[in-house]
Amino acid sequence: MTDITTIHQPVLLERCVALVAPALAEPGSVAVDCTLGLAGHATHFLKAAPEARLIGIDRDTEALGLATERMRREGLADRFTPVHAAFDEFAAVLADQGIDRVQAVFMDLGLSSLQIDETDRGFSYSHDAPLDMRMDVTQPLTAERVLATYDAESLARIFRDYGEERFARQIAREIAARRAHEPLTTSAQLNRLVDEVVPQAHRPAGNPAKRVFQALRIEVNGELDKLARTLPQIAAHLAVGGRLVVESYHSLEDKTVKSFMNQGLKVDAPAGLPMIPPEAQPFFRELTRGAVKADEAEIASNPRSASVRLRAVELVRPIPEARMRQLEPNATNATVRRGAHSRRGGRTGQPARQGRNR
Ligand SMILES: C[S@@+](CC[C@H](N)C(=O)[O-])C[C@H]1O[C@@H](n2cnc3c(N)ncnc32)[C@H](O)[C@@H]1O
Repeated sequence: MTDITTIHQPVLLERCVALVAPALAEPGSVAVDCTLGLAGHATHFLKAAPEARLIGIDRDTEALGLATERMRREGLADRFTPVHAAFDEFAAVLADQGIDRVQAVFMDLGLSSLQIDETDRGFSYSHDAPLDMRMDVTQPLTAERVLATYDAESLARIFRDYGEERFARQIAREIAARRAHEPLTTSAQLNRLVDEVVPQAHRPAGNPAKRVFQALRIEVNGELDKLARTLPQIAAHLAVGGRLVVESYHSLEDKTVKSFMNQGLKVDAPAGLPMIPPEAQPFFRELTRGAVKADEAEIASNPRSASVRLRAVELVRPIPEARMRQLEPNATNATVRRGAHSRRGGRTGQPARQGRNR
């Protein structure tokens, strides 16, 4: 049987533990790992914070099952609650658990190595597979459907914005022209098409279709929208002294995280006021100086860490209502898919404890 601890190497693990654990020292502290994956980070958070418990959210039922098994094997299951949900259901997940405030929230965005290596899910350009790319296989939108139904302009926007693909327009036009007589259903077909469109002289290092695959994955899974909807929900449920730690792997993700955190790091008052009123004071304290990157040794042993940008903040005072509203123009009312835990049989069975409102 495969050892799941070797499938995915957690990125910047020690740094993440050092940022998360201090917020979890008090008995009854609650951490939420919004991107549980194979629990590489989550198991270490629980070991470093023996008084805390952790809610692990993932939209991938297979990852949830493996993470739950790992927690059991490592003797951590009684402090762990797995939840099948997308992380933009954050507020509903907490409500479902009877929790108002949490002491730490962690996000390690993107795909796990399990998903990348699973050749039948179509995430990888290096294996021929159906163009699926769903992290949550219960959702209807697949990469094949995007390629079959979006107009050329929308496809070009996706390739350009999410993939920073220089030949976005040409690739989109070619897809629209070909699909009328030959539906695009496999990664090999898409690879071939991109290979024919992108001129030899202008190819980035590696596979020319890499950016197109990344862009499609972001679109299929609504990754940036979900992130932007989730951050304000996290802020609304963070206890004072609570910490938010986020690892991004794409410039647009990092930009979203950075501008969200910056709103709480600045004074919200016109310059030159003789005194800054308390409600205008910063409500976050920055725990990293800008974005932390992986060092060369980590990149050499785990190439996935090459693009990581880690940012972390601590909530230093309650967020005034008016500033909370500025954070969440599109607050979501999504409800958690109830029964998800029991589908996996992964719920620990302990009653949900009330979170503390520090
Ligand atoms: C990079 S992996 C996390 C790896 C984990 N930190 C570890 O060390 O094992 C990201 C995980 O987040 C999940 N994920 C990505 N977007 C999500 C979303 N919007 N809601 C819930 N889970 C999501 C993916 O399914 C994947 O399992």
